[in-house]
Amino acid sequence: MKITKICCIGAGYVGGPTMAVIAQKCPDIQVTVVDLNEQRIADWNDPNPENIPIYEPGLSEIVSEARGRNLFFSTDVDKAIDEAQMIFISVNTPTKTYGKGKGMAADLKYIELCARQIARVAKQNKIVVEKSTLPVRTAEAIKSILENTGNGVQFQILSNPEFLAEGTAVTDLLNPDRILIGGDTTSEGQKAIQALVDVYANWVSKDRILTTNVWSSELSKLTANAFLAQRISSINAMSELCEKTEANVSEVARAIGMDSRIGAKFLKASVGFGGSCFQKDILNLVYIAKSYGLNEVADYWEQVIIMNDHQKRRFSNKIVQTLYNTVADKKIAFLGWAFKKDTNDTRESAAIYVADDLINEQAKISVYDPKVTRNKMISDLDYLETRNNQENSSYLETLDNAYDACKDAHAVAVLTEWDEFTTYDWKRIYDSMHKPAFVFDGRNILDAKKLEAIGFIYQGIGS
Ligand code: NAD
Ligand code: UDX
Repeated sequence: MKITKICCIGAGYVGGPTMAVIAQKCPDIQVTVVDLNEQRIADWNDPNPENIPIYEPGLSEIVSEARGRNLFFSTDVDKAIDEAQMIFISVNTPTKTYGKGKGMAADLKYIELCARQIARVAKQNKIVVEKSTLPVRTAEAIKSILENTGNGVQFQILSNPEFLAEGTAVTDLLNPDRILIGGDTTSEGQKAIQALVDVYANWVSKDRILTTNVWSSELSKLTANAFLAQRISSINAMSELCEKTEANVSEVARAIGMDSRIGAKFLKASVGFGGSCFQKDILNLVYIAKSYGLNEVADYWEQVIIMNDHQKRRFSNKIVQTLYNTVADKKIAFLGWAFKKDTNDTRESAAIYVADDLINEQAKISVYDPKVTRNKMISDLDYLETRNNQENSSYLETLDNAYDACKDAHAVAVLTEWDEFTTYDWKRIYDSMHKPAFVFDGRNILDAKKLEAIGFIYQGIGS
């Protein structure tokens, strides 16, 4: 079957960029991205492509090329479902905040709503593609909903997890390591797989398009994120040992990374990983393992999260201890709030937890981030429910440049590895701060020797 109309439910960090690239690379396919969130759709339709709701290098150019040609953003979910032969579900699957599995399991209510809506609206056969990250065997639940409330329409369900990382979404989508498509082993299932392979084959070479059964595909996504996060917790565990032993974690990472069996990527010690995926997906994996009674498996993976929480807490503790065991009424300047550079996403960013710890110690936090708004920062803190909105607002100051954020500070803490932080006039920053002036480099991006020569007391991670 040749696909000419695609609908994607969910215009978020995955749905938006993924569909923009499909539309750019497949001008013959009409791609409609729909969302319940009217503001989000209005932002995607903003006449100025610079104002689209997600910041990703290169994305606004692709959107401006394809939008209105074969890429559309709409709130009319029913119409887009009705017209499409292939429907991607790309809605959020956050950790449950209530009921059974609270704090661990993935909340699948948005997925179920999509399945029910598709079942209600569809009048012709459709291929439904799981793009969201889902617990293994979710396709079974989706199939059951579609079959039991449908209008006699045939559905094929594919799993096509997304491996893009934020900040590099466009390059990851244009040049993926692999595309993974899981489907039914029946001939109808194989035809559906082929239809999706043909979409990607417009720009991805065939040897990078991998097909499996549905369950392997679903589980591979959770596994990939667990392995990636595990590398970071492993190197972060070593960073603490390095600090006790005069070893240097960057040197250790380089030395082990040259072993081709280990590999050099994803070994950067940090203040702790953030982002919407790693923690959520590992907690989900732990929950799934427990639900099958696999307690050793569950405990093994849970340790990745325990280590990451420890690393964030260790960073804030280090700031307090180094500042003579009190930060009350002291100004701590944060460089960065996003969970990594080149994104405006702050979900699970280490900065939120470090700020919360320091505010508990009555520190004043002044933040500069090139892409994150004050409203976002305050709502991130409010979400923790440690204190009310008014209190959070009074402890957190936001500035539109780093020099003002650092003025009169006792310490600077680097929370995000934005490139511009390395280019600053650090002498100017030093001159404007209280002395002794401390730098806590949670990303190991600054030149320690240079800063120490200026007069700073510098502390990185793992050295
Ligand atoms: P997001 O929160 O940015 O976007 C999800 C969107 O879905 C929201 O705009 C929401 O309004 C919309 N939505 C929810 N229910 C809806 C419904 N019933 N009908 C229409 N719209 C609805 O989430 P995201 O970061 O794009 O993640 C989506 C999925 O992709 C998650 O499962 C996530 O784990 C996975 N994923 C995310 C990333 C990433 O880097 N963010 C990478 C790979 C996979
Ligand atoms: C991750 C996966 O990489 C991606 O494949 C998946 O589709 C979604 O989840 P993302 O969370 O967007 O992507 O970014 P990623 O580059 O993985 O970084 C996650 C966190 O780990 C960030 O806070 C980053 O700063 C941190 N990190 C990453 C480290 O601390 N050290 C590293 O070596 C790499």
